[in-house]
Amino acid sequence: MSNSTIRWEQDADGVVVLTLDDPSSSANTMNDAYVRSMGETLDRLDAEKGSLRGVVLTSAKKTFFAGGNLGGLIQATPETKDVVLANVTLVKRQLRRLETLGLPVAAAINGAALGGGLEIALACHHRVVLDDPKVKLGFPEVTLGLLPGGGGVVRSVRLLGLTTALLELLLQGQQLRPEKAVKLGLAHETAADRDELLAKARAWVLANPDAAQPWDTKGYKVPGGTPSSPSLASSLPAFPANLEKQLKGAPYPAPAAILAAAVESLQVDVETAFVVEGRYFLDLVVGQISTNMIQALWFDLNRINGGGSRPSGPEKYAARKVGVLGAGMMGAGIAHAFAKAGVDVVLKDVGVEAAEKGKAHVAGLVGKQVSRGRMAQEAADALLARITPTGDAADLAGCDVVVEAVFEDQALKHRVLSEAEAHAAPDALLASNTSTLPITGLAEGVQRPADVVGMHFFSPVDKMPLVELIVGRDTSDEALARAYDVVRQIGKTPIVVQDSRGFFTSRVFGTLVMEGAALLAEGLAPMSVERAALQAGFPAGPLTLLDEVTLTLPLKIRDEAAKAGIADEHPGVAVLRAMVEQGRTGKAAGQGFFDWQPEKRVWPGLSGLFPSKAPDAQDAVPFHDAQERLLFAMAVETARCVEEEVLTSVEDANIGSIMGIGFPPLYGGVLQYVDQYAGGVAGFVARADELADRYGERFRPPAILLERAVPAGSLRAAVAG
Ligand code: NAI
Repeated sequence: MSNSTIRWEQDADGVVVLTLDDPSSSANTMNDAYVRSMGETLDRLDAEKGSLRGVVLTSAKKTFFAGGNLGGLIQATPETKDVVLANVTLVKRQLRRLETLGLPVAAAINGAALGGGLEIALACHHRVVLDDPKVKLGFPEVTLGLLPGGGGVVRSVRLLGLTTALLELLLQGQQLRPEKAVKLGLAHETAADRDELLAKARAWVLANPDAAQPWDTKGYKVPGGTPSSPSLASSLPAFPANLEKQLKGAPYPAPAAILAAAVESLQVDVETAFVVEGRYFLDLVVGQISTNMIQALWFDLNRINGGGSRPSGPEKYAARKVGVLGAGMMGAGIAHAFAKAGVDVVLKDVGVEAAEKGKAHVAGLVGKQVSRGRMAQEAADALLARITPTGDAADLAGCDVVVEAVFEDQALKHRVLSEAEAHAAPDALLASNTSTLPITGLAEGVQRPADVVGMHFFSPVDKMPLVELIVGRDTSDEALARAYDVVRQIGKTPIVVQDSRGFFTSRVFGTLVMEGAALLAEGLAPMSVERAALQAGFPAGPLTLLDEVTLTLPLKIRDEAAKAGIADEHPGVAVLRAMVEQGRTGKAAGQGFFDWQPEKRVWPGLSGLFPSKAPDAQDAVPFHDAQERLLFAMAVETARCVEEEVLTSVEDANIGSIMGIGFPPLYGGVLQYVDQYAGGVAGFVARADELADRYGERFRPPAILLERAVPAGSLRAAVAG
C-alpha cells in the first residue's frame, strides 16, 4: 500500500492497529487518498480476517480526523450532482463494510473527531476517548449549511434516539468534551493518556470477539422509539414548529434537512436509511447556502485567523503585560479577555475604587463560568489574580501593550494615552477601543504616533469574537502586526480597516438600523420591520437593535458628521429625532420603539407617530423589498468602503459583517451576498438600481460594482486583483 493515509501494524495477538496518517497534510481529511486507502485497507482486512482478532483505529495527527474535504465540497454544483453522490456513497459503503466485517473494531480517539471524524468513529463498535480539553466530538456540519452525509445522521439517531441526537448533536453542531460524550452515550469510556487509550481499545476488541453494532443486533430498540411508536409519534408534530421558532424564520435549509433525514431514517432499514441521508446531503451540498457558509466560515475565517490581513514582515509577537485604561463596561471586558489568555493586566481607572469595580465585573463573569461547571475554581482564582486594579498611572510600568477604553472624548483619550506612553514600556503598543474617533487624530496626542492603532472590541467583549483593527495615517506595519498577534493571542478574530468615519463595522451597521427606521416611516408595521430582518437571517430586528444601542447614538454620530461638512439625508434620521423628542431613547431608558418593562412589547404610541399601511395598500412596501432593502443597504455601503479602500480584502468584509454586526451567515457575509446574488454582480446591480429608483439614491450601486457587472464578474476577484 504505497502512499497510504492509513498505516497497518499488527501485533502478536492478532490485533491490527490502523493509524490514520495522511502523509500529504497535517490533518486527516476525506480526500481521494483517504478513500483509496480505506478501500485497500478493507480489502486486506477481509482477506486476512481469519488470522485477525480485531482492529483498533487511531490517528497520528493532533486531531483524530478533521472531517470532510471542504475544498471539494464547496465546488459541488447541481451539474456535478452524480459525481458527488457517487463519492459520498462510496465513503458510506466503506464505513458500512468496516462495521460488518465480522471483526471487533474500536476507535481510540486521540484528538478532535468532528464531522467526518466522528462518522468514522461511529462506524466502530467501541469508542475510547482521550480525556483532554482539546478533544471535541461533534457534527459541526449544520454550521456550514450541511448535514453529516457519511452515515452520521443515521448512526447517531439510532444510537442516541431521535430527540437526543437532534438536540444534543445534530441541529446546533455542538462540540462535546470527552466526559460529556460518554455521558450522552456517544462514546464508551475515556483514557488518561495515549498508552491507556490504545491499551483500553485493544483490551476491548480482545474481550469482544462477536462485536456488532446495536442496530445490527437482533431485538435492538432505538432509545425513545421510532416514529411509529406512540410516544414519539405524538411529540413529532411539534418538532418542525420548534425548529422554526428557534431559527426565527431564517431560511437555513440544513436544520430542516437534518430533521427530515433523521425522522425518515428511523422508518426504514439501515441500508435504506443511508440512501435517504445521502439524498438530503446532496441537496444541501450542491446548493448556494452551503457554498456561502463554507466560503466564509471556513475559508475566509481561516485565512484571517492565519494572518491573511497581517503585514508579513514583522516577527510574531506576544503580549506579556497589558495596561487597560478605563474599567467601565468595555475596559473590564477587555481585561477579562487578556487575563483569560494568561496575560497580566493592570486595570486603571480614575481611582482604585473605580478600577476595583471593573475587576468585580470580571469576577462576576468567571463566577458564572465556575457555577456552570465550565471553569475550575483554581483557574478562576488564577485569572483574577492576574488583574491588578489601580488609580495610579505609575503602575503601568513594564506594560508592553496599552488599550484605552475611557469615555468617548478625544481630549480625554489624548490625555490618558500620553500619560500611559510616559509610564509603560518605551516601545509599548498604544491601542484605542474608540468606536468613532479617527485614529489619526488620537495619535496626535502622543510622541510615538506610529505605535497607535485602533483596537475596536464589540460588546459584550466576552461573547463577541471580533476585533476591528484600525490603521491610522501614521500606524506602522510593526504596530499593526503586533495588534493582530495580540488579538489572536486572546483567541479573537481581527479584521483590518483603514481610518475613516465609522470605520467599517459601525458605518455599515448604521445603514441597517437606519433602513429599519425608514421602513417604519414608510408605513411598514413595526413587527413587520423586525420580521423582515429575522426572516432574512439577521439575529435581531433593526428596531430592537436601535433600542439596544440607544437612539441618541446614531444621531450624535450624524451631528458630528454634519459638523465635519458631511451631509446625510437618510429618511431614518427623522424617525429617530421624533422618537427622542418623545423621550423614547431606547432600552436603557426602558422605552424606545418598545416598552421594555415588565416585558418587551411594541410601544402602543408608535402607531400614532408612524401609521402602518395595510400590506395590500397600493403604496405599501412589499415585504420582500423590505428584506432586500436591509441587505442591500449594507452591501452597497460595504462596496463603497471597498471603493474608498477602507476595506482591502473580501475576507475582512465577510467575516467582519458576520461576526461583528450580525449580517446573516447564510449569505456568507456582506460581499459574498453580492457575488452569490441571482445573476451575480450584474443581477445585484440591476436590483440595486431598481431599489434606488423606487426608494432612494442610497441604493445606487457604486462604480466598483458596475465594473464587475460583467459575465463571470465577482467582487472577490476585483478586490483580490
Ligand atoms: P464606560 O462609561 O462604561 O467606561 C468608561 C470608564 O472610563 C469609566 O469607568 C471611567 O471612570 C473611566 N475613565 C474616565 N476617565 C478616566 C481616566 N482619566 N483614566 C482612567 N479611566 C478613566 O464606557 P464604555 O462603554 O466601556 O466605553 C469605553 C470606550 O469604548 C469608549 O471609547 C466607547 O466608545 C468604546 N466602545 C464602546 C462600546 C460599547 O458598546 N459600549 C463598543 C465598542 C467601543
